[in-house]
Amino acid sequence: MKRIVILISGRGSNMEAIVQRCAEQGWPAQVVAVIANRPQAGGLAWAAAQGIATAVVDHKTHASREAFDDALAEVIETHRPDLVVLAGFMRVLGTRFVQRFASRLLNIHPSLLPAFPGLHTHRRALEAGCKAVGATVHFVTPELDHGPIVMQSVVPVRPGDDEHSLAARVLATEHVIYPQAVHWFVEDKLKVADGIVTQTDGASQVLL
Ligand code: GRF
Repeated sequence: MKRIVILISGRGSNMEAIVQRCAEQGWPAQVVAVIANRPQAGGLAWAAAQGIATAVVDHKTHASREAFDDALAEVIETHRPDLVVLAGFMRVLGTRFVQRFASRLLNIHPSLLPAFPGLHTHRRALEAGCKAVGATVHFVTPELDHGPIVMQSVVPVRPGDDEHSLAARVLATEHVIYPQAVHWFVEDKLKVADGIVTQTDGASQVLL
């Protein structure tokens, strides 16, 4: 049984999707804790209602990024995770934290990386005239929104789209690709070589 810890900052819809697929599909895994950096993160109540342990490590109560990262890492370690999943976790994590959880730290970013790392991805894609956008699940490296790509979704940009309509269309695909990527991880079906991730059964790593 692989132990999964999920980090959130807000509503936690990706976290919900992972918890639900894990139960429905009988993964060899369990979400053992949901940890937020904001006490008001909406997803905490949902997780608690499922009987999942929850915790808050409030970044505002720590004097430095490093102190926050260390406190967060300590709480995560108490749950002995095989995998740490960043699901709408809106704090940049430092190199020491990333190295501590190296190869067992996943993130989802709402763009087709390496395009548009950082914030306001949908607005920036519209401003750039992109005809397709999407989301990326990747292993985390110290560089922001960077690291070996596990799976991507691609959605069209339609006439009249604004950043909200685009975000909603992309989010629906996040709820498919993130559980899929985590499922592969917990079944040991991901191989990383020279920064390239392969699904060892040969399954498609793109949702079109
Ligand atoms: C998602 O679009 C995620 O890709 C981005 O923030 C959003 C989080 O949504 N980083 P939720 O908290 O999972 O509902």
